[in-house]
Amino acid sequence: MAARSIIEPFRIKSVEPIRMTTPAERERFLVEAAYNPFLLRAQYVLIDLLTDSGTGAMSSEQWASIMRGDESYAGATSFYRFESVVQDIFGFRYVLPTHQGRAAERILFTTVCKPGDVVPNNTHFDTTRASVEYAGARAVDLPIPEGREPATIHPFKGNMDVGALEALVDEVGADRVPLVMITITNNSGGGQPVSMENVRQVSAVCRSHGIPLYIDACRFAENSWFIREREAGYQDRTPREIARELFSYADGCTMSAKKDGLVNIGGFLATNNEMVARAESRLLILTEGFPTYGGLAGRDLEAMATGLHDALEEDYLRYRIASTAYLGQRLTETGVPIVQPPGGHAIYIDAASMLAHIPARMFPGQALVAALYLEGGIRAVEIGTVMFGATNEQTGEETTAPMELVRLAIPRRVYTQSHIDYVCEVVADVYAKRADIPGLRMVWQAPPLRHFTARFETV
Ligand SMILES: Cc1ncc(COP(=O)(O)O)c(C=O)c1O
Repeated sequence: MAARSIIEPFRIKSVEPIRMTTPAERERFLVEAAYNPFLLRAQYVLIDLLTDSGTGAMSSEQWASIMRGDESYAGATSFYRFESVVQDIFGFRYVLPTHQGRAAERILFTTVCKPGDVVPNNTHFDTTRASVEYAGARAVDLPIPEGREPATIHPFKGNMDVGALEALVDEVGADRVPLVMITITNNSGGGQPVSMENVRQVSAVCRSHGIPLYIDACRFAENSWFIREREAGYQDRTPREIARELFSYADGCTMSAKKDGLVNIGGFLATNNEMVARAESRLLILTEGFPTYGGLAGRDLEAMATGLHDALEEDYLRYRIASTAYLGQRLTETGVPIVQPPGGHAIYIDAASMLAHIPARMFPGQALVAALYLEGGIRAVEIGTVMFGATNEQTGEETTAPMELVRLAIPRRVYTQSHIDYVCEVVADVYAKRADIPGLRMVWQAPPLRHFTARFETV
């Protein structure tokens, strides 16, 4: 009989120690960090699920690529290798390296947006929203209704609501929509995939109005795998072929290669529009670096080029999606409410439902994050009112987020199944004690992106 376990398709060559702390130590560290996981020192964290961004392990091929890095200021061989890999996978003509995703976003939105514009997205990630708003435009989220219901099962819950997009464009006028963006997978909406059909439909709406379509491509390989698994007609296609088709419907993309580029730093901006590329290059030179390195070292470009290939390996993607689903399935069996079905890079606990005794203005997600750290040294992140809400300066009232989620993001190729089993045990213990978890009060904040630095006390 064939083995049923989907094992890690790699063996470990280099290890990094992690250490346990005592409950008393964790209590002290948490108070010192003002109940904000971003203010905790990593050495006091046992299992770090804060983010899957830049926290992955590189392959021996990537480390070998690093040694081939050409550090020439201009025209480096490493740039041309990187450029040809991006052109081959994504199909866009102009490729601008950036130090990470938000630099690509800032350059894109600064170039194409003017005050009063409107940018639709299935769901803006926080940095994307911040860049759109910084450029004076309005960021509008248009997920399908199922995307806002944590318990509802849908194969492509990350899809954009095409009818809502058409209505928005009709309402504001196509000349005020400089671009439409689709985020694959939809991170802020639970790491849920977007179907090929949806991208095709959104692209058709965009093209009929002459609006460019951009893809936030951070997790394009994971999204491609979901299409292969769930969408009719794609079972025999490779993830690379699926990715290529997906991007063929778009005019450009932004990429944080810290996710599916499998690197610790790096990103890029790509487009088919020569005029836009020229304007973006000028901004790139001003703020990131010369266009053949864009704020990165030659070795980083090499690691990205190899990482983009690694991320499309079928064995890797099969394991990646299966291991995330394993965590989701075990938590569901325990009774923990999570966004269903499990996403690609993370499991999202529905904190509003798990901690129903804590109102949104007392940040149930942040309270759960604190409880997970206290219980077992696990670091997670709130994706709810702390991240997406705002305090009215006059009244002190909180605008709350549509969902109160806690994300357990899984770094790529870093933790083994026994680490994940430990996470399941800790979450189960916290779940058993959920009625005793206190809410939090925000005592200091610095918008925008207040979640990185906000400080809290228990209520
Ligand atoms: C969907 C999405 N877009 C953009 C970004 C921003 O990328 P970076 O952190 O590399 O600036 C992220 C990062 O987490 C993301 O998840």
